[in-house]
Amino acid sequence: MKTIVIFGATSAIAKAVAKLYAKEGNKLFLVGRNPEQTQTLASDLKVRGAKEVAYAVADLAKIEQHPTLIATIKQSCTQIDVALLAHGILPNQNECNQNVEKTIDAMTVNFISPVSLLTLLANEMQVQGAGTIAVISSVAGDRGRQSNYVYGAAKGGLSIFLQGLRNRLHAKGVAVLTIKPGFVDTPMTASFKKGALWAKPEQVAKGIVKAIEKRRDEIYLPAFWKGIMFVIRQIPESLFKRLSL
Ligand SMILES: NC(=O)c1ccc[n+]([C@@H]2O[C@H](COP(=O)([O-])OP(=O)(O)OC[C@H]3O[C@@H](n4cnc5c(N)ncnc54)[C@H](OP(=O)(O)O)[C@@H]3O)[C@@H](O)[C@H]2O)c1
Repeated sequence: MKTIVIFGATSAIAKAVAKLYAKEGNKLFLVGRNPEQTQTLASDLKVRGAKEVAYAVADLAKIEQHPTLIATIKQSCTQIDVALLAHGILPNQNECNQNVEKTIDAMTVNFISPVSLLTLLANEMQVQGAGTIAVISSVAGDRGRQSNYVYGAAKGGLSIFLQGLRNRLHAKGVAVLTIKPGFVDTPMTASFKKGALWAKPEQVAKGIVKAIEKRRDEIYLPAFWKGIMFVIRQIPESLFKRLSL
């Protein structure tokens, strides 16, 4: 039995991951913002086969509460085999252009909050000398575009932070996985028109669990996004700035 800790547990992608781990009879510790949804998920995971499910309710934008949250998790879980960070928001770029507070809020949830949690978690997991830290970044972090560069900058910063953390924790026996999904059909993207490039949360969740098992460093999900982002990164800036992307 493994112990899986999930931050942003009520996210559509995280829920799909949690269901896969529950089916295998693992222990789960959920961190969700909405008390009712988190409790409902905990009960559902128990029914699906989880050995044990504990949870905490937290607004993860409140950085000052992170040390207490991590202490609560450590009291419940003697060992953390997998820590998955899934919380995030997709801000409206036009609103961010007009309102610096919205920009700062998005940066806080998508970058500062994960960095704070990862700093605390890394120190705990370094001591245990085992386990995997898996974090949902995004393909949006691979290149800045006018339509979502606040979100993209936060995810890009997060991906770089994870590179450094991986480099630091490799010798300590802790794997760090950067997850870069493309378009996924979840509440976050409910207002978007869907097309051929879109994936379901369940499909992405399978890829996440497999990558954790294999102790991969970085994964694009679905895998074809690796090729798409390779091409997008090759476009010279002198041309890229003229495109309306
Ligand atoms: N959907 C995509 O196309 C896509 C693509 C690439 C990457 N991602 C990333 O995938 C991750 C999961 O997103 P999703 O697509 O599954 O969307 P989602 O279902 O909307 O999940 C987002 C989750 O983040 C939580 N959250 C937001 N702000 C929070 C805060 N201050 N404190 C605690 N929790 C907070 C939300 O909690 P509430 O339920 O309480 O609001 C929700 O559970 C995110 O990091 C997202 O950036 C998504």
